[in-house]
Amino acid sequence: MQSFTSAACLFGIGLLTSMSVTATVTENDSVRSEASERGRALFLDNCAECHQRNGRGLKGIYPSLVSSEIVRGSGTDVALQLIIGRGEMPSFSGAMSPQDMADVINYVRNAWGNKGDAIDAISIERLLD
Ligand code: HEC
Repeated sequence: MQSFTSAACLFGIGLLTSMSVTATVTENDSVRSEASERGRALFLDNCAECHQRNGRGLKGIYPSLVSSEIVRGSGTDVALQLIIGRGEMPSFSGAMSPQDMADVINYVRNAWGNKGDAIDAISIERLLD
């Protein structure tokens, strides 16, 4: 009887633990997808007029961000483009917060088949200093 009770108890604890792990994962996922929704909206508002909604740009005028070496390279490289600007492309350092830049960078680095690890707002703040 004693061992039955403790087995049931352990089972209960195991169940609770796995439930809370599941809840945490779901929460992280929804935080992540919220950030990518924000990133997408920021892209459409700030970048798509030149780079187009599909990221492919306009041949000979605005470079494609799909299979771009800079976009695939690192979040820092893309951040520097946004902070400094380049050629016809304006600097966004006055227009976007570090968090906005992080969200839009993480969006372009993971849209249209791109795959890149995420950059956070703190790393962008450091580049702005
Ligand atoms: C006014 C048009 C314009 C807007 C708006 C614009 N860009 Fe650009 N972007 C350009 C042009 C032009 C270049 C190429 C500059 C050069 O190499 O001389 C470029 C280059 C880039 C590159 C480098 C691509 C490569 O492979 O060389 C990245 C990354 C980039 N832009 C991202 C963005 C993001 C993200 C946004 C929005 C926050 C944005 N751009 C908004 C015009 C624009």
